[in-house]
Amino acid sequence: MTERGSTLWHGRFAEGPAEALMAFTASIGFDRRLWRDDIEGSRAHVKGLAHVGLLSEVERDEVLSALDATYREMDSASFEFLPSDEDIHTAVERRVTELAGPAGAKLHTARSRNDQVATDLRLWCKREVRLVAERVVALQRVLLARAEADQVTALPGYTHLQRAQPVLLAHHLLAHGWALARDVDRLLATIERLDVSPLGAGALAGTSLPIDPHFTASTLGFAKPFDNSLDAVSDRDFVAEALFDIALVGVHLARIGEEWVLWTSEEFGFARLDDRYATGSSMLPQKKNPDIAELARGKSGRLIGNLTGLLITLKGLPFAYNRDLQEDKEPLFDSVEQVSLALLALAGMIESATFDPERMAAAADAETNSATDLAEWLVRGGTPFRDAHAIVGQLVRTHLATGTSLAELVRGDDRLGADAAALVAPGVAVTRRSSPGAGGPDALDAQLVAFREVIERDRGRLVG
Ligand code: ARG
Repeated sequence: MTERGSTLWHGRFAEGPAEALMAFTASIGFDRRLWRDDIEGSRAHVKGLAHVGLLSEVERDEVLSALDATYREMDSASFEFLPSDEDIHTAVERRVTELAGPAGAKLHTARSRNDQVATDLRLWCKREVRLVAERVVALQRVLLARAEADQVTALPGYTHLQRAQPVLLAHHLLAHGWALARDVDRLLATIERLDVSPLGAGALAGTSLPIDPHFTASTLGFAKPFDNSLDAVSDRDFVAEALFDIALVGVHLARIGEEWVLWTSEEFGFARLDDRYATGSSMLPQKKNPDIAELARGKSGRLIGNLTGLLITLKGLPFAYNRDLQEDKEPLFDSVEQVSLALLALAGMIESATFDPERMAAAADAETNSATDLAEWLVRGGTPFRDAHAIVGQLVRTHLATGTSLAELVRGDDRLGADAAALVAPGVAVTRRSSPGAGGPDALDAQLVAFREVIERDRGRLVG
């Protein structure tokens, strides 16, 4: 029986662990957040042992009620952790043994912390990665709501951060929404792939005892049990995948963040932040800063770092379990937590911000933003595009060199004339973006319909 205050593996050792060893190797400081999953996994394991006759029904019920009591203690934060509790698995087993006596000492039959921790972490990921996906959808809904609320305002679309062609603000907002839709898809695919129970793999090679991994897998709600015990305890692909999915969400949020840093600057002036979602300066009284947007941009470095850190940890590890694998948890917990905070804050920031349609329109209506429409007007009349491009390019050059309005130059050019000049008038260029999926009002309805469908579908997948 495990003695209070000793390690699980004390039998083979003449002396207890050095303080330095425990300080360096213990993971309880961060893996205690797996407690629900650890207890859930132990419940299934105990039921599985009874199912194949390794535990009597009485013993099973004794251990189950000790697990329930441990659950209540952890839930109410009254659980007393001991210095010898090196990880959450040790802490739970130690407490169950204290509470259930001899039956408790059978809890770890045919199980290792190696299959146990892999089980716990998969259970944790199934729940928490889904929550991340839900928060992504919440941000998509904010983008959708803002797009639906304003279907007329245009702003310049940019390439190279130089004004290119005007697009609707709604179109621009939805562009981010589509990137996030791919993120949701990836997160859900990751959950689907990780839905495999490692329980029953033991330390690395299974066991001589007649356990039934199918039974425990289905008790835990996993789609299936592992096929190979070595793979089951060594595989952290699911952590790497979750970290990649989250890193890419982070990259998308960083692009949104960068955009809002620009939009809320006095130079752009496209949007104003609600006071609740902006910060001030300790020295400069006039400042109103977009810290959420900046941190959304900044945190992406950390999310990418968590992914690359784990990949480097995994690279070259021999089969099967190695303690290095303990390094999977902190990056995972950190990425899930940070991306969740970022998603919530950005959603609030975008939902509460005020757009400045006049500032956007003034930038969108710069005459040169219609240059492509003028070239396309010539194309409709039969001019080859390359020639049309050169004709308009020369007019733009004259406009920039002389300051003469482009509309006037177009009107006076016998290849173009008054009809073409009308294209340069304010508000016209955006209406010309009418091809499927384009940035103008004609194409917007179809896009809104498609985007709503994707969000609805994903909401269904998240519930189901
Ligand atoms: N804390 C350990 C981890 O996170 C649990 C598994 C320990 N297994 C072992 N053989 N020491 O990986």
